[in-house]
Amino acid sequence: MHFTKVEDVHDIAALIADARQLKAAPLAHQNIGKDRNIGLIFLNPSLRTRLSTQRAAQNLGMRATVLNYDKEGWALEMEDGAIMNGTTVEHIKDAAAVMGQYFDMLAVRAFPKLQSMEEDSAETIIRQFIKYAGVPVISLESATRHPLQSLADMLTIDEHKPLAKKPKIVLSWAPHVKALPHAVANSFAEWTLAAGHELVITHPEGYELDTRFTKGATILHDHEEALENADFVYVKNWSSFKAYGQVHNTDESWMLTEKHLLDAPNAKVMHCLPVRRNVELSDEILDGDRSLVQMQAYNRIFAAQAVIKSLL
Ligand code: CP
Repeated sequence: MHFTKVEDVHDIAALIADARQLKAAPLAHQNIGKDRNIGLIFLNPSLRTRLSTQRAAQNLGMRATVLNYDKEGWALEMEDGAIMNGTTVEHIKDAAAVMGQYFDMLAVRAFPKLQSMEEDSAETIIRQFIKYAGVPVISLESATRHPLQSLADMLTIDEHKPLAKKPKIVLSWAPHVKALPHAVANSFAEWTLAAGHELVITHPEGYELDTRFTKGATILHDHEEALENADFVYVKNWSSFKAYGQVHNTDESWMLTEKHLLDAPNAKVMHCLPVRRNVELSDEILDGDRSLVQMQAYNRIFAAQAVIKSLL
C-alpha cells in the first residue's frame, strides 16, 4: 500500500474526516507508530513538506529521519541496465533497497526535470522506490503529482466551504519568473474532481494541463468569467505542458488582485506556497481576510498524519 496519487485512496471523504479529527486531537494516536521509523528522502528543496511530515510522524510516535539526497547522497543512476562508467555512483534499485531495510516507511520528493514529457510522465524515481524498497512509499511531490498538498487543500476547502450550496472552485494560472512543474495543479485538479466538486480551470491559451488530470473540469481562457462568484480561487503557476516545460506567456494581468474579485465577494484564495509576492498574488490578497494560505500550510501536518496513520 502506497500514497502517490488519489487512486491510492479508498475513501477520500473518510480520509479528510480523519485529518479533521487528528487536527482536533493531534496526539490522540501517539502510540500507533511507537518503535517505527520513517525515512524522508528529499531530492529537491522543501520547507512545508519536510517539516509538516516530520511533525505528523512525531505526533504518531514515529521517529523521522530526513536525508537531503540531492546534497548528501551519491549521484543516482536511473536507467535499467546502465553501464555505470560515468558520473552516477549508485543505482536507484540498490539505494532504494538499502533504505527499505532501514525504515518501515519511506517518503520521497523527486521533481521533474521539465526536459522530456515522456521521462517525467514515467515517474521513474517514485516507481523504482515502490519496486525496490519493499515498504510503503509516500510521495512528497513527484514529477506529476503532489498528493499530500492536495489532501491538505481538500481539508481546507472542507473546513471553509459554504453550507448552503456547492462551492465554485477555480484553479487560476498565475505568472512566474521561472518554468514550474505541473504537479500541484495536476493533483489539485484530480483530487477536487475525485472529491465530487465542480472545478473551473482558467489559464491563457497554451497552458492546457495534461487531460489525464482535468477530465470533467470546465476550462476557460476568460479569466474574469471564470472568477465570477467563485468560492475558492486556487492560484498557481505552471509551465506549458504541450510545449513541454516552456514559458510563453508572462502576462502580468493574470496576477490575482482584489480587482479581479469584485464579482466574487466571498472568494477565499488558496496557494500551496512558496509564493512569489506581487508576481503570482498581490500582497493585499495574501495579507487580507480572503487568504487561506497559512491554514493550508498548517493543514499539511494533519493531511500527512492521516496518510501515515492509514499506512501504519
Ligand atoms: N507546498 C509545498 O510543498 O511546500 P515546500 O516545497 O516548501 O515543501
